[in-house]
Parts: sequence; C-alpha cells; structure tokens
Amino acid sequence: MNVTFADISLSKQGALAILVTEGSTLRGVAAELDSKLGGALKRAMKAASFTGKAGSVLEIVGPQGTSANRVLLAGLGKSGDLTAANLEKAGGELTGRAVKAKEASLSIVLDGISAPKLPAADAAAHVAFGAKLRSYSFDKYKTKKKDEDKKGKLTSLAVLTRAPATARKQYLPLSKVAEGIFLTRDLVNEPANILHPGEFAKRAKALTKLGVKVEVLGEAQMKKLGMGSLLGVGHGSEHESKLIVMRWMGGKSGEKPVAFVGKGVCFDTGGISLKPAASMEDMKGDMGGAACVTGLMHTLAARKAKANVIGVIGVVENMPDGKAQRPGDIVTSMSGQTIEVINTDAEGRLVLADALWYTQGRFKPKFMIDLATLTGAIMVALGKEYAGLFSNDDKLSKQLIEAGEVEGEKVWRMPMGDAYDKMIESRFADMKNVGGRDGGSITAAQFLQRFVNKLPWAHLDIAGTAMASPQTATNQSWGSGWGVRLLNRLVTDHYEG
Ligand code: BES
Ligand code: MN
Ligand code: ZN
Repeated sequence: MNVTFADISLSKQGALAILVTEGSTLRGVAAELDSKLGGALKRAMKAASFTGKAGSVLEIVGPQGTSANRVLLAGLGKSGDLTAANLEKAGGELTGRAVKAKEASLSIVLDGISAPKLPAADAAAHVAFGAKLRSYSFDKYKTKKKDEDKKGKLTSLAVLTRAPATARKQYLPLSKVAEGIFLTRDLVNEPANILHPGEFAKRAKALTKLGVKVEVLGEAQMKKLGMGSLLGVGHGSEHESKLIVMRWMGGKSGEKPVAFVGKGVCFDTGGISLKPAASMEDMKGDMGGAACVTGLMHTLAARKAKANVIGVIGVVENMPDGKAQRPGDIVTSMSGQTIEVINTDAEGRLVLADALWYTQGRFKPKFMIDLATLTGAIMVALGKEYAGLFSNDDKLSKQLIEAGEVEGEKVWRMPMGDAYDKMIESRFADMKNVGGRDGGSITAAQFLQRFVNKLPWAHLDIAGTAMASPQTATNQSWGSGWGVRLLNRLVTDHYEG
C-alpha cells in the first residue's frame, strides 16, 4: 500500500474517511462535506447514535453528492485524551474496512486534529503508520485466491492534512519501523521448509544493502569457538546451524555498542523429547526472537539511527534423528560450563547460552537484551498481553517497561534469585537445562543468567506475544512483529545521538 500526504480536499474516489473527536459537532471540512451530502452525515450520526467514541466507525455507502464510493466517520474519543495510539488504531481500523470493502484507494482527512503533545502533522503521520501496519498481508502461498483478491486490493492511502510536508517528514522514520515489523512478520510467518537456517542467513545478508555488516558463522567455525551448547541442538537436523552477526555502526566511532540477541529455532519438534502433535505447526514461529532482532536491525539501519548496535542470532533446527542429542547428554558450552540436557525440548536456552557468551566476549556491549519464544509457562503466567521481562538491572528494566507502555508492546518484570537458580543444579554437570514445572519461565531465565557476566542484561520471553497473539486494529498477522517498536523506542529514547 502506497502512502501519500496531501492538502485537504473532498473530491475523492474510493473510500473517504474523516476523523472526528468525541462529542464535537461537525466542523470545518466535515461540515462542508455534510452540506455537500445534503445533511446525510448529521442524519446518519443521529440515527446510529454515533458520537465519536474511540474505535467507533460510521459508514455511509454510496451517498449522493460525492465521487467517493463510501464516506466513513471515525471516532477518536475525547480530544483531551488524543494519543498517537488512538490515531494509529483509527488508521488501522479504517484500512481494515477499506480492504474488506475491496476499495483500491482510501483517503483519510484530519482537520483540526491535534493535541498539546501531538501537533497536527504528527497526528497525520501516526494515522498513516497505523494504516500501514494494518495493510500487511502474508498471502504468497495462496495461489487460488490471488486474482480475485488483487481486484480488491487497497493500493493507495492518502492522508489529507493542513501540514502535508511536515507530516511526510514525520512519517519517514515510522515507515522504516513498519518495514522492520513487516520483515519480522514475514520471517515468523514463513514455513520451516522454506525458512531453514540457510535461508534465514540469506535474508539477514540482504540487510547489507542498508549498510549493515552481516557475518554468518557455520558449524565448523562454531565448533572452533567451542559452542557445544548451541551445536548440540542442531545435531539431528539436515540443515547446518548458523550464528549470524549483524552490525550497524551509526553512532560515534569507538563508543560501546548495545546488543540484541535472538533465539532462532526455525522449527522446534522438541527433538528426542518430542512434542505432542497438537499445534506443533506453530513451532515454525520459534525463531520469533531472531526475527525481531533482524527486523530491528533493518529499522535502525534504514532510518540511519545514530547508535552502534549489534544483533546476534543463533539459528538452528531442533529435530529428532539418529544423530540428535539425547536426554542425559552432557554438552560443554563456549563459557566452559557443562550442561546436562535433561529435556531436548528446552533447546532455546541452549542456543542462547553460547550466543550470549559470544556477544559479550566479542563486543563488550553496554547491555545485552535477548528475545526468545522460550517457554510455554510464560503464557500461563502472563497470557498474551505482556511479554516476560527478566533482568539483573533496574535501570534497563525501567527503560523497557516505559518504552513498552509508549509503543503498546508491554513487558512485565518477573522475579529472579538464588532459590530459583538452585533448581537447575545437576547431579552430573554444572547445571541442567530444566528446573521442573514450577516457575518454568524463571528457571529458564536463571539458566540464561549463568552465561551473562557483570553487565546489564534483560531477557524477554516472547512466546505469548511473537505469534498467534490477539488480532488488533494494527495487526492481523499470525507473526505479530512484536518487539521491533519496543526496542526501536528504547534505542531512540536512551541510546542515540
Ligand atoms: N519453543 C518452546 C516454547 C514455546 C511453546 C513457544 C509454545 C511458543 C509456544 C520451547 O522450546 C519449549 O519447548 N519449552 C518447553 C520447556 C520445557 C521442556 C522445560 C516448554 O515450554 O514446555
Ligand atoms: Mn522446545
Ligand atoms: Zn523452542
């Protein structure tokens, strides 16, 4: 969907939408349109009891007096409560309606829509951002429906405002966030027969054109580095495991980077500790952490962020096979610590153990944040509303919690401590990879912490938010792209310039 910004005008084809705040009478352009339509808007508002509540939409199909197929009024709630999030929702909601109505073009008018911290141009940019996010679809494998869908494909959005030039400027970085989110969604949605570790590496390599330096380490190199923990997970797979290092150095030269580390299990069968069949297909999304890091690197590079940022992802496939690792096997991690693999389905932490150790040793970052679809238990604790946050640092935690509130990608801090750490002591090795059913997400985090030295670190368990999360006005995709907005905000607010 192509997004443009232009001056306000009412002679439009397709769908024409006007944003209105709650309880206000029709003013400005809305009043002008109403009189063109012979008072149809006011009549419809009254008949439908439309008052402009946030999220409400009033649709008038085929009215006389306009070249548009339909006119929509979209409520934003009280003007005093106007937020970027409300505007994004309105943009998303209207886009959803235009797509459903098989309109090819949508125009959204913002006349006098602004708030103290949200000038008119920013408001317009956020409407466009919400619309763009909603316009995503993953239908490349739908060969039958294509022609029919194409006819009704929404191809253009015009946001009409009194400050189009400024709005265009404000939208530019948001459009790069959308690109990163779309990349993350694509990676999560791809099936595992297509997106195996080699293909993931190719897609990460494509970031080179944005100025990201991308290195791909294969099994031989990882073996030399002593990454027995990561390599054990991929033993049963026909696909070679990869460690992918992405570097965006947009900050001051010599300044320590920040680092993001992702779990990239392209498919998680559970290995020899095989998962039950029900919903196993969802495990194509077990690379959601790695996908988020990749999408984030895209966004940061595309908007030329003034920050030094490292992205490291461990990309493997967890399969049962004659060569697969067994329960009871003991592997030696790059850190030198040994791990008794009690359950081959607790594989994400084994991948991250070596990825975290490698990242802190090589790059000496200011902080490390890892993202992983790590445990089913995090959904038992938090549902799909919040991702689990585990951290050794109060400042970094606070920054993440605040960024999450702003961007609508919320994180909830979970406890950690010695009592939980004891639960992963092993009879035979330095630790075991599971701590039993109780506190399953916490013992997973304790395991990761054993591979983090004294630097600020946070672990985000995104098993509930990266995929199959509730559909919203701005996301209807299975792979949600969760985390790109959150981490882009963190970098923007605290680690740039
Ligand atoms: N990838 C799964 C976690 C998961 C489950 C993510 C459902 C998304 C949806 C992870 O590798 C896993 O299998 N975890 C086990 C850990 C257990 C064996 C200690 C789990 O959560 O059951
Ligand atoms: Mn698993
Ligand atoms: Zn997994």
